[in-house]
Amino acid sequence: MDSLKITGGHSLNGTIPISGAKNSALKLMAACLLTREPLTLTNMPNLADTRFLSQLLASLGVEVYWPKGDSECRLNAAELTSTIAPYDQVRKMRASFNVLGPMLAREGHATVSLPGGCAIGARPVDLHLQALEAMGADLKVEAGYVKAAAIHGLKGAKIVFPFVSVGATEHAMLAATLAKGTTVLENAAREPEIADLANCLNAMGANISGAGTATVQIEGVEALNGATHAVMADRIEAGTYAMAAAAAGGDVTLQGAPVGALGAMIDALQRSGVAVEADEAAATIRVQRNGSALKAVNVNTQPHPGFPTDLQAQFMALMSIADGTSVIRENIFENRFMHAPELSRLGADIQVRGKEAIVKGVEQLRGAPVMATDLRASVSLVIAALAAEGETQVNRIYHLDRGFERLEEKLSGCGAEIQRVDGE
Ligand code: UD1
Repeated sequence: MDSLKITGGHSLNGTIPISGAKNSALKLMAACLLTREPLTLTNMPNLADTRFLSQLLASLGVEVYWPKGDSECRLNAAELTSTIAPYDQVRKMRASFNVLGPMLAREGHATVSLPGGCAIGARPVDLHLQALEAMGADLKVEAGYVKAAAIHGLKGAKIVFPFVSVGATEHAMLAATLAKGTTVLENAAREPEIADLANCLNAMGANISGAGTATVQIEGVEALNGATHAVMADRIEAGTYAMAAAAAGGDVTLQGAPVGALGAMIDALQRSGVAVEADEAAATIRVQRNGSALKAVNVNTQPHPGFPTDLQAQFMALMSIADGTSVIRENIFENRFMHAPELSRLGADIQVRGKEAIVKGVEQLRGAPVMATDLRASVSLVIAALAAEGETQVNRIYHLDRGFERLEEKLSGCGAEIQRVDGE
């Protein structure tokens, strides 16, 4: 297995281009199943997860034209040869489950394995299933598979989510585009990726309003057409590099950053004493810290526009070298502190008590071998390693390859000493 060797203590200086958003790309790709015409996605991130979903789509009969390394991907679902997404393909990545609704809406039936995904809690799909059922789907869960049927098509419905779910909001939105009548989603997730998906679906002929607010309305249409859509920039990638620059020190400009989607992250960084200049029109964020101490800041993860759970681990890495004690509360997932013991191997002083991690800042982290446990946790170890004295080996970096495009290249371009070491 590959690992990363990082020699810390070098400040980061330069420009980092931000890639297309993984989380958005995965749902946009699923949208191709709703139309017989080609969907072209530009600004596509080349990642293990997006490549993996393209293979799943191909196994359903979608013609995929996406040359290696290319940022444009053409998906043509003129004919589907299968409506079954098997266990082996869905278990590796939870977002694969989102192919269920589109296939059901288009073909009237679909069978999809229950998902796997990151080891960050139980992560059930009950809200996804309740939404499809409310639209008239007949669902059976048998031997780990969801068998769904809607012989006369899906019907519009009013769906009130008991709590906010990004995946369930997107799944319901995808399915409702081809339902008969109006669907209203209440207590919908407001993440920027929801608005990105709605923009793409509307370009395909859907009629969606309110995406990005807590109430989304979808007027079902007979059929959708092809379209070309640019994937929004990755706010989590941008936030991650902002924290890397803050932790290692230096002067980094993030280029093509989704500034408007990063309010809570920018606020937390500024409160910790880091200089952040965000320019929404230019889509740039400049992060500077030259020798000044970091202040301890408390954060609470919340659905958007709150502080994102996908940046919690990275912020913990930063707080582990701040002056004072910070309390980081994880409200979205029940088991998302697996990076804490690994950060402690680098000398961080972190105590986890239920939903809270109490982080006492230390003067200096020191390099050590550590193990990546999930996607965002892995990158928090990279951030800590960049700030640490000496060498860190981050093992099991396949998690990083799932979600960060050209990570070593982007960091070494700013002066980081980081190398991939091939494992056997
Ligand atoms: C998406 C993101 C993930 C991010 C998360 C929260 C993608 C591919 N992934 O995940 O990176 O961390 O949003 O911002 O976009 N839940 C249920 N039942 C359901 C659905 C969810 O109980 O049917 C729970 C989950 O276990 C979790 C909470 O709801 O505790 C929020 O999950 P959700 O917003 O659905 O996250 P994902 O869409 O899986």
